[in-house]
Amino acid sequence: MSSFERAQAACREQFGARPTAGAFAPGRVEIMGNHTDYNGGFVLPAALDKGTVMLGAPTGDDAITLYAADFRRLARFSAQTLQPDPRNSWADYALGVVQQLQKRGVPIGGFRAVIASDVPSGSGLSSSAALEVSTAFFLKKCFPYELPPMEIARLAQQAENEFVGVQCGILDQFSSVFGREGSLLFLDCLTLEHDAVKMGRDDLALVVCDSIVKHALTGGDYNTRRVECMDAARHFGKNLLREVSWDEFTTGEMKLPLNQCKRARHILAEDRRVLAMREAIAGTDTAPIGRLLAEGHASCRDLFENTSPELDFLVDKAVEIEGCIGAKMTGGGWGGCTINLVELDAVPQFSETLAAYYRDATGHEALIYPFRASEGAHILDL
Ligand code: GLA
Repeated sequence: MSSFERAQAACREQFGARPTAGAFAPGRVEIMGNHTDYNGGFVLPAALDKGTVMLGAPTGDDAITLYAADFRRLARFSAQTLQPDPRNSWADYALGVVQQLQKRGVPIGGFRAVIASDVPSGSGLSSSAALEVSTAFFLKKCFPYELPPMEIARLAQQAENEFVGVQCGILDQFSSVFGREGSLLFLDCLTLEHDAVKMGRDDLALVVCDSIVKHALTGGDYNTRRVECMDAARHFGKNLLREVSWDEFTTGEMKLPLNQCKRARHILAEDRRVLAMREAIAGTDTAPIGRLLAEGHASCRDLFENTSPELDFLVDKAVEIEGCIGAKMTGGGWGGCTINLVELDAVPQFSETLAAYYRDATGHEALIYPFRASEGAHILDL
């Protein structure tokens, strides 16, 4: 059953009524630009063809009822007194969006909604942003408001920063709102200028490999990295690492504490890799693409230190398989997924071989699937 069908069935079962409002928002894959977003840098993601569906209706009172169809949990809240709920932390992503819309003067009252998703949580594919953004679009249908798409991405990010407590950048929410069928996306996180980037070759597939080792960004490592990056920027008298030039950095890096030095070196080099990748991926020569993916992963592993033994293994093995142009980890890190660029014809053999390597080494089944870069969030016609 699709997420939409599961959400429809759950609506009938829980609320005994047909939904009058519905929205879909996709997850994302970050092709290049790891942890550059909150440093004001560049990112190159694509929206996934998987996402989160929210279906329901306004209720005319103050009560918010949310039902998570995937793990059968029901929770009730009041639209007037919103607070994070440690017993139902899954709902915080949606409630945070309600709060941000209220802060912008949108009169959000009571509603009931079911949530169903085919983006696995904790896999680095932005299940959190998919839930935040689908909530924003669902509420737009229930309580019509006019906000520019970038403002919707920003309010969803702020929901995660302020309500959930993860100091994430705007990469995930931007990708979920702005996704473009068949294209990668480029964003300058400082100026918020953005563009679609078409791949130069149509005989290459983007393949996700999920190590199925979960991570939780609320666990603290993510926020620690952010603090290390900010401290490094401050060392150079700047607010963001984006404002530190490569020359300035290489001249002064020896004076930084070791961890700050490693994190900053990753970010500054990664920004350059995003720009190089934007060029390379729009062209037809695969050699620079493979090299950039390899450098990106090595930098995460050795400098940003946010990979995992499983991710390193999957990347090392992937590039040994015929037809694989390159591979790297994607997303927050410490588990989750790799992204692989593979010749279209080689995808079945690639997936089988990589799955077998992983099974033999870990006893686990990796989930390996090609995806098509897809449209961003939208209100559903019911
Ligand atoms: C997570 C965060 C994003 C971004 C990535 C790493 O997905 O939510 O803001 O920092 O990690 O690039």
